[in-house]
Amino acid sequence: MKNEMEASEKIIIALDFPEEERALNLVDILGSFCRIYKVGSELFASAGSKIIEKLRSRGKDVFLDLKFHDIPNTVGRVSRLSTQLGVRIFNVHAFGGSQMMKAAKEESLKAAEMAGQDSPLVLAVTILTSLTSDVLVDELKILSTVENQTIHFARLAQDSGLDGVVCSPFEIEGVREACGEKFVVLTPGIRPKWAAANDQKRFKTPVEAVKEGADFIVVGRPVTQSENPRESMDKIIREISGVKS
Ligand code: C5P
Repeated sequence: MKNEMEASEKIIIALDFPEEERALNLVDILGSFCRIYKVGSELFASAGSKIIEKLRSRGKDVFLDLKFHDIPNTVGRVSRLSTQLGVRIFNVHAFGGSQMMKAAKEESLKAAEMAGQDSPLVLAVTILTSLTSDVLVDELKILSTVENQTIHFARLAQDSGLDGVVCSPFEIEGVREACGEKFVVLTPGIRPKWAAANDQKRFKTPVEAVKEGADFIVVGRPVTQSENPRESMDKIIREISGVKS
């Protein structure tokens, strides 16, 4: 990778906080060390959509991680609204099917064009990493493995016009092989060697994920719960800036 700036553009810090104040405090602490932040349902439920405006006014990009999953019309409408909020990335569940994914991308493109702004990356959540192949078969009656179903969903998302997928770091290589170099791969489940695993059971290091082809990695507690978040972020940036791209 060419430099640290390029490396830091790959890292998305998850603002998993119940209050806006704590989230913005971390953003201010990290300053120029971090450009992209993930706003998930917890922060969105407590701070509302205004949090996006506040992050943008600090010069930050937002990954809105609300994983939309509804009928195509509803997802199309919320995709339009998400685009109008100026997010850089948002996501929908591949489980919603191709019509739903198409509606998300089409409405997002229209809204971006009307507003004269760049259109966000619309990504499909493949299989949540909390699900195992046993749950797929026994509970959900999906007669496939996590790996095969993830590849299938990635292809479906690509055929539906989406920009990429969210998948576990264990599926990066398979998705790359199936969908090519330009398809965006974003992965959580990341733990640096020096960080606590917390409740993550299957994870990879930032270096492994980037080597295997992740465009973006989502990191939460190793930075957000660190005694020195800037130092932790800096360490990750340095680690991945050594990776050849
Ligand atoms: O703190 P940690 O680094 O584990 O946080 C990871 C973030 O990525 C959290 O917001 C979590 O909800 C999200 N995530 C995950 N595993 C998935 C999907 C999302 O950890 N499979």
